[in-house]
Amino acid sequence: MRAHCSIMLAAAAALALAACGDRKEAAAPSGEMAVAGLQTPAAFADITDAQERAAALFTEMNKVISHPRCANCHPRSGGPTQGDDMRPHEPPVVRGAGLGAAGMECFTCHGDENVEFASMKGSVPGARPWHLPPPSMGWAGAGAAQICAQIKDRELNGGRSLDDIVAHNTTDHLVNWAWNPGEGRKPAPGDQETFGALTAAWVEAGAHCPAE
Ligand code: HEC
Ligand code: HEC
Repeated sequence: MRAHCSIMLAAAAALALAACGDRKEAAAPSGEMAVAGLQTPAAFADITDAQERAAALFTEMNKVISHPRCANCHPRSGGPTQGDDMRPHEPPVVRGAGLGAAGMECFTCHGDENVEFASMKGSVPGARPWHLPPPSMGWAGAGAAQICAQIKDRELNGGRSLDDIVAHNTTDHLVNWAWNPGEGRKPAPGDQETFGALTAAWVEAGAHCPAE
């Protein structure tokens, strides 16, 4: 199969992509159990108790949610953090209404796209509009049970229904950035399609939360 794919690739890259399938398309339909370090809903299908299955699905989702690519933008207080060690943002920036301080807004430095540093390895992350959610949507450093309760709570989650959360996780472009984080940054585990599928399966199983 591998040889077949590479011959096709040599012949016509576009055709080969269609024939061999890219990683995303292969995820759910083929019944794959994991994509790039993130388990798919198929891996949880044999947990018959819905409450248990939902809790296990959320625990898996939390590998993404608590990953620094997401959590750096979801602090519970203060401003954004950066890097895998989630150190304070350099230069220090304030939250303001989410967009930063007047004259030092996030978009002063963060554009619509990631931009590689000219003089050294790395990049300024970018996606539009790059900003912080309100503190009620903060979860950096919190446990899975607490994050799960926050995400479900319409008083805290921006008035979103569970279906809205599925849509957000599946299609939001700031969420998407976590898998396209630019030069010098590790992406979140899995891909957005698998993360969205896990969220949908969690909601379908009753959106129960893990005990801790
Ligand atoms: C650049 C900053 C940024 C990044 C990176 C980011 N988010 Fe968010 N997120 C936001 C903002 C801003 C909102 C609030 C949007 C609104 O309500 O208008 C939000 C809202 C949310 C919400 C809905 C509100 C809630 O918390 O209940 C979820 C869920 C969420 N983000 C998940 C994620 C996940 C998962 C990732 C990583 C895969 C991620 N976000 C990455 C900025 C970010
Ligand atoms: C003065 C320029 C500047 C301003 C203003 C600024 N940033 Fe940054 N930010 C950067 C640079 C540069 C980096 C990349 C640092 C690195 O990787 O070495 C960065 C990195 C980040 C990261 C880290 C992503 C990761 O996962 O490592 C987040 C999150 C972030 N900024 C959010 C914000 C938010 C939200 C605002 C507005 C409240 C903001 N920034 C304002 C320059 C800025």
